[in-house]
Amino acid sequence: MNILVTGGIGYIGSHTVVELINRGHNPIIIDNLVNSDIEVVNRIEKITGKRPIFEKVEMCNFNELQGLFRKYPNIDAVIHFAALLLVEESVEEPLIYYHNNLTATVNLLQCMAEFEVNNIVFSSSCTVYGEPDTLPVDEFATVKPAMSPYGNTKKICEDILVDTCKVTDIRCIALRYFNPIGAHETALIGEFQDGPPHHLVPYITETAFGKREKLRVFGSDYNTPDGTCLRDYIHVVDVAIAHIAAIERLKEKKSEKSFEVFNLGVGIGISVLDMIKAFEKATGIAIKYELVPRRPGDVEAVYADTRLANSALNWKAERSLEEMMRSAWEWEKAIGK
Ligand code: WQD
Repeated sequence: MNILVTGGIGYIGSHTVVELINRGHNPIIIDNLVNSDIEVVNRIEKITGKRPIFEKVEMCNFNELQGLFRKYPNIDAVIHFAALLLVEESVEEPLIYYHNNLTATVNLLQCMAEFEVNNIVFSSSCTVYGEPDTLPVDEFATVKPAMSPYGNTKKICEDILVDTCKVTDIRCIALRYFNPIGAHETALIGEFQDGPPHHLVPYITETAFGKREKLRVFGSDYNTPDGTCLRDYIHVVDVAIAHIAAIERLKEKKSEKSFEVFNLGVGIGISVLDMIKAFEKATGIAIKYELVPRRPGDVEAVYADTRLANSALNWKAERSLEEMMRSAWEWEKAIGK
């Protein structure tokens, strides 16, 4: 299948493109290169032996995006990753986030309707759950007010998709990621780092590498076994593979529903301190850390009920926490030098 992959040289996008190529699909990547590196196209070719089509496109420019659809008239499905995704940045720059993430999605759906491209997999986030009332959190849980403009753009995009699917032939699967971490086993692609890391695992690996003096553990007074937050960490390759399953479910029209949503997690909540221990066990490297006050906006605990994705997508996260940590470390060493 010809699959348009927006944001396809980003972290999840690039790993998904590799899996698409490995399964004989033909990905067409569009990206505006705002927070990704064109070198990733070369890395994807090096991993798979096949160079994906790449077009630099600003999705907020409708004419540019429409031109892309004209140029590639045989698109079978879209996987929509392209979005600004930094929580703190979204708090400081809400209008940039609302404009970019919402306009790109609206333009995309208008083009899909015009060119009769009717299958889309949307990159959503567990952020839409906020602080869940019950754990593990399932897809029917109340979607809480977003903790950030970034999280709100994900929720609004899901609503835009629901309403659009009702009145067009477009069918959508939204995948709510929990905490994707790790990197491809070749260490040729991984989480793009531009400046100080925002997420836990890149901060751990940069501390191990000596780029950071120590890790700050945000909050140790939560109502959890060791006082630090719980998250559901999942290997980025497991997340990528779930997208293939979602595309195939759409293509085979396996569901009578025009909009479906699935959690992508392992189903286990792991604390920050246990993540540090897991990294040390996987690599033999001790991590210096300091317990500091909570980070505003953090939820205490969130981890997935994965049964719906397991059954409907016939997919299950398979890679161990040790493999997540080891691949993250190999990636750090590859880019660190
Ligand atoms: C994980 C835990 C921190 C850094 C974010 C987005 C979410 C999704 C995944 C896109 C928290 C703690 C972190 C550090 C720390 N992204 N931490 N010291 O916030 O769960 O989720 O990434 O969809 O939308 O919000 O991920 O890695 O930032 O934090 O103690 O230096 O690690 O407090 O408990 P988060 P994270």
